[in-house]
Amino acid sequence: MCGSSTLIEVVEGRVRLLTYDLSRYRRPDGVCEPAWLPVFYNPAAVLSRDFSVLVASALNLKEAVVLDALSGTGVRALRYCSEVGSISKCFANDIDSRAYELIVRNIALNNLQEKVEAVNEDANVVMYKLKKSGVRVDLVDIDPYGSPAPFIRAASWAVKNGGYIGITATDMASLSGARPSSGSRRYWCNLVPTDVSKTMALRVLVGYAARVAAELDRSIEPLTYSISSYFARVFYRVRKGARRADSMLSKSMGYLKYCSVCGFREFSHQIEEVKCSVCGSRVSYVGPLWIDGLTDRELVEKSKGVLEAFTYMSTINQLAKMLACQAAEVSDKPLVPYDVVQLSSKLKVNSPRVEKVVECLKLLGCRAARHCGTTTTIGTDCSYRDVVSCIKQLTSK
Ligand SMILES: C[S@@+](CC[C@H](N)C(=O)[O-])C[C@H]1O[C@@H](n2cnc3c(N)ncnc32)[C@H](O)[C@@H]1O
Repeated sequence: MCGSSTLIEVVEGRVRLLTYDLSRYRRPDGVCEPAWLPVFYNPAAVLSRDFSVLVASALNLKEAVVLDALSGTGVRALRYCSEVGSISKCFANDIDSRAYELIVRNIALNNLQEKVEAVNEDANVVMYKLKKSGVRVDLVDIDPYGSPAPFIRAASWAVKNGGYIGITATDMASLSGARPSSGSRRYWCNLVPTDVSKTMALRVLVGYAARVAAELDRSIEPLTYSISSYFARVFYRVRKGARRADSMLSKSMGYLKYCSVCGFREFSHQIEEVKCSVCGSRVSYVGPLWIDGLTDRELVEKSKGVLEAFTYMSTINQLAKMLACQAAEVSDKPLVPYDVVQLSSKLKVNSPRVEKVVECLKLLGCRAARHCGTTTTIGTDCSYRDVVSCIKQLTSK
């Protein structure tokens, strides 16, 4: 690693940003490592930030107050306050004093002293303090290293009734069941590896956020998400009310009953029989996790509607594709995830094209769509037997 602490100026979205020169922080294999910077900034995470700015513009906000609780260089707070007209105040907080100093400089660089306030505190302390001092926070943004779990309770408490939380998780191996013990420990959930790891990661994360909110007599509604191999980001609305929390838990929480032998799966509200109804093997119950919809029709449509204001973003094409995919995925019924390639391999047949399987399931009268952010996963309310029959029918053609 080269240790020089030279600051450089970059432009992201509509803001100018002083950041440490990433090219000077290389691992022995030559890869630049954002986590080694004195203050974290990953240029490659611009998709997550562009997505967040876009979603914030589509939310029902007015003169909104935003907390960027783990801010690094301050980039998210600066972008929210300069690119989203309905946001009038942002707190940019980081526990690290070097980050705080850089946030102060970046606020001045962008002339945003009137709108952005730098804070140097533990994120949880800031959230409880804002709540105690009566500040009504419309949107809390949680973008930590690894797991957001340690911050979700305070965020659920601090956000105003009907406000929003955006969380990022980068501990995908834990969330997806690839590392079951750390995932179970962090998210209070039984996890096993499945063939639909990204979808599981998202559902485990939302399920955890729902249970934490419910402890505080709050309910959540997931609105939209972005997922890749290295991060999951979810936006959800939080509402106060014990009765709403109870009905959310009984309607939207459950398990994925999963047979690793034949690939049978279905969502289930309870843990029932342990034998696979198809092949007789022992099934696993993955969960508790979120078994309801992950996207909100209105928000996805509104996000598509505001896209044209953001053509300056470098990720505009990816965002447009993501929203088109989510619009197709919106469903009133939970869609059970299947990986077409993995299931075909279990059935010992060549994999048909994913969109052909989706078409076949729709012809059977089911809801079916590709799962966004993945190439071979679909979601459907058809039964396992219908999915198998579509795959077999298509490969025999
Ligand atoms: C992944 S970085 C944030 C990146 C930033 N949001 C962005 O988009 O560039 C996580 C940041 O959280 C800060 N941090 C870690 N633990 C914290 C805590 N308990 N409270 C506040 N900040 C914390 C770190 O100093 C680091 O700057």
